[in-house]
Amino acid sequence: MARKQRREGPEQLSGSRAPLARWRFEDLPEAHFLDDVLAGLSRPQKAIAPKYFYDAKGSALFEAICRQPEYYPTRAELALTRAWIADIARFAGQGCELIEFGSGASIKSRLLIRRLRPAHYVAIDISQAALRLAVERLGREFPWLQITAVVGDFSRPIDLPRALGRRVAYFPGSTIGNLLPEEAEGFLHMTRGLVGRGGAMLVGVDLKKDANILHAAYNDAAGVTAAFNRNLLVRMNAELGANFDLRRFAHYAFYNVARGRVEMHLVSRLRQRVAIGRHRFAFDEGETIHTENSHKYAVEEFQAFARDAGFEARKQWLDRRGLFSLHGLRAA
Ligand code: SAH
Ligand code: AVI
Repeated sequence: MARKQRREGPEQLSGSRAPLARWRFEDLPEAHFLDDVLAGLSRPQKAIAPKYFYDAKGSALFEAICRQPEYYPTRAELALTRAWIADIARFAGQGCELIEFGSGASIKSRLLIRRLRPAHYVAIDISQAALRLAVERLGREFPWLQITAVVGDFSRPIDLPRALGRRVAYFPGSTIGNLLPEEAEGFLHMTRGLVGRGGAMLVGVDLKKDANILHAAYNDAAGVTAAFNRNLLVRMNAELGANFDLRRFAHYAFYNVARGRVEMHLVSRLRQRVAIGRHRFAFDEGETIHTENSHKYAVEEFQAFARDAGFEARKQWLDRRGLFSLHGLRAA
């Protein structure tokens, strides 16, 4: 049951002297959560899309993951963005309209905003809590910046305001890796249409590497990634009236070499039944709910994708250790 909900309007940010940010509420993800979970748990390989990790707690846990010593992607992408900022800014162009997908805390975006002075910054995220914190902070730091915050799911059509400059789509963090390859290509096609001829895109892509480094990154010693994964169960209990017993599910993450991706699962520790409202789901001992894929690409592999979607792969910037890449794509 897809309820279409869209509201928009300016809003004074609570407790700050920041200027008005315009808010738009697209087709809200909460409206699809129950249906998606029931469908996902009815499949032979139970699965729930990773976009449902990001309630307020999930967004906070993701920020905590980024601070773990084993989770290299955030530090690597920040380092390469700082190192190459002049070149990146030249590529993107001053005064553009910067549209960020899955903006989260907008940390990397601040580096770009400072340098690019965009005419308009559009932040799109499924997590209203993360967006609110990010927009408040950006408003204080860049009082001259025109901001539109869009709460919505970028895997569905999003109705954006009229362009206020040459469009540059920004998709950092390797969030593109959380999509299946065919979904990633579809997403690139969609953004190619959105930015139009002469527009550009900056995409952060995590690179293929030693499986031990990947294993550590998704199995941090402090257990923050495990808590992030298991928070999905907490969320289903709170929002869908489910009765998952957290002690009966374990975090499991491994690198699937054949598919070039880290997979995260929640493993049932024993044979059990779980209720979600009036629905019942049986789990065998060892059976899993597949909760996330995180695809890793070689530079050329990703460039081929971008070309198929109608972009020219013009630039790629890497961190010094060659762990992470940022691609500069021009609409062909
Ligand atoms: N761009 C930030 C955050 C990456 S985490 C960084 O690079 O650090 C991924 C972000 O994408 C989260 O904030 C999450 O809420 C958001 N997200 C995940 N799936 C989404 C979807 N389908 N639609 C919109 N936002 C999504
Ligand atoms: C947001 N995304 C790119 C992260 C990733 O690495 O796939 C989410 C994450 N999952 C576990 N740790 C971090």
